[in-house]
Amino acid sequence: MRNVYLATALICVLIFSIFGLRGTKFTSPPIDVFPEWAFPGMKRQPKFRPQAASQFFADGRADRVPVEHTVRADTPVRNDDHLYYGKDATGAFAHGFPASLTVDKAFIERGRDRYTIYCQPCHGAVGDGNGITKKYGMGATPTYHDARLRQIAEGEIYNTITNGKNNMLPYADKVEPADRWAVIAYVRALQRAQQGTVADVTDAAGKQTLGLK
Ligand code: HEC
Repeated sequence: MRNVYLATALICVLIFSIFGLRGTKFTSPPIDVFPEWAFPGMKRQPKFRPQAASQFFADGRADRVPVEHTVRADTPVRNDDHLYYGKDATGAFAHGFPASLTVDKAFIERGRDRYTIYCQPCHGAVGDGNGITKKYGMGATPTYHDARLRQIAEGEIYNTITNGKNNMLPYADKVEPADRWAVIAYVRALQRAQQGTVADVTDAAGKQTLGLK
């Protein structure tokens, strides 16, 4: 019987030591079983923590600011407001595509490729907002086929891809500026596709299929 009490007590101690203090914030350093002086290592080397104070520098900050006029090596020169920000000269959302890009079939194909990866899961293959995520409870994805989104400036769509909108996260880190425009061209193609009429069928094979003259 005594062993049972002992075992129960041990199990309690074990459970408490594993789970009991989870999530607790400690303000003092943890007790080391092997002290630093016995096993010197890099664990407690002198160092500055981010955003900490330091008496060493005149401004009292441990973090150093870059030297004036420093330009990060990976910062591209963004000297085209239309291409990089979707804005025109007046600062409004730009209509149309940046002059430096050629909107052709290859460009739209590239747009379809990126769209399929990054947008289709929510917006659906035809842009009606019925992507796979709807099945998993994300019901608020709008269709592209309403009057407002058909007329909206290309620059505003660019802005939505770059910065996100409400439940839609930004895609700036995943889709390059030129690719964002390619995606926009594809979104325009999806919108146009939903507005097709018989008059759009101009090639002979298509006409024959539809029984047109
Ligand atoms: C995780 C789901 C999700 C993905 C992925 C996604 N979107 Fe969205 N998108 C949304 C939701 C939700 C909204 C509605 C935002 C709102 O207005 O509340 C939206 C809105 C939009 C709108 C309408 C913005 C407006 O002005 O009302 C456009 C255009 C758009 N998305 C384009 C894209 C493009 C292009 C991609 C791919 C690069 C993309 N979305 C990827 C969920 C998504």
